[in-house]
Amino acid sequence: MVMRTRDGSVGDVDYGTIGAGYAAWRRPDERIAHVIARALGDARTVLNVGAGTGSYETAAHTITAVEPSLAMRAQRPAELATAVEAVAEDLPFPDGRFDASMTLFSVHQWSDATAGLREMRRVTRGPVVVLTCDPARVRDFWLYEYAPDVLDTEARRYPPLGQLTAALGGTTTIQPVPIPLDCTDGFNEAYYGRPELLLNPAARQACSAWSFIDDHARQAFDTSLRRALGSGTWDEAFGHLRNRPTYNGSLVLLRATS
Ligand SMILES: C[S@@+](CC[C@H](N)C(=O)[O-])C[C@H]1O[C@@H](n2cnc3c(N)ncnc32)[C@H](O)[C@@H]1O
Repeated sequence: MVMRTRDGSVGDVDYGTIGAGYAAWRRPDERIAHVIARALGDARTVLNVGAGTGSYETAAHTITAVEPSLAMRAQRPAELATAVEAVAEDLPFPDGRFDASMTLFSVHQWSDATAGLREMRRVTRGPVVVLTCDPARVRDFWLYEYAPDVLDTEARRYPPLGQLTAALGGTTTIQPVPIPLDCTDGFNEAYYGRPELLLNPAARQACSAWSFIDDHARQAFDTSLRRALGSGTWDEAFGHLRNRPTYNGSLVLLRATS
């Protein structure tokens, strides 16, 4: 049975607790938006599952948004469609209802990613687009030296790409998504060249993996990164990233057609 919090959250985190600052820290990045738009192609009607605060929904499409959390639905800008309160695993739409569908930074939180993606496939005639992280790559990031528990958590949460492609069926392409140095969407790897920003607790709260570690571990991270930045140790090892225009980390885009 899927547990729901008072907020309606059904995933492995409660956005009623951590979701308040999400829209401010997770602003859609226009370069990533371009990659998503290309994958959606000429679709007119688009379903967005785990739509959150509406990132990457554009006026170019007629969007239907699905979002279980009240805290996230409440942060959706007024000009966006009101989100339907539902879950990926049980979509309240008939077969083939949408030209395309997308789910962005969400599938790792679902109680049953396979069931949710099969539902997306069922209600979609054209491409199903999934923006997610490759769990085999998440520990390659420098943050692993300072907050291993956070990235171990991420590696556990993100479904293996093979599971996703099997659930989607048909033909799936997988492409790495380059992360821009000034990425406005504040997931962990977005700070690859701006480590100081991860010292801000509000930035961390907008990345749900940080809610899996306790205050003590968060404090230990803060102390060790501050020390490494102050002593120059971080810059010696990773300072070249401060000027790298894009970073190919674990972020990938899957595009499945039937
Ligand atoms: C990290 S947020 C991403 C939100 C948005 N897609 C974005 O790119 O900013 C993950 C979202 O997935 C939603 N979610 C979690 N489990 C879900 C499920 N089983 N079905 C649909 N949405 C779910 C959460 O409520 C949350 O809003």
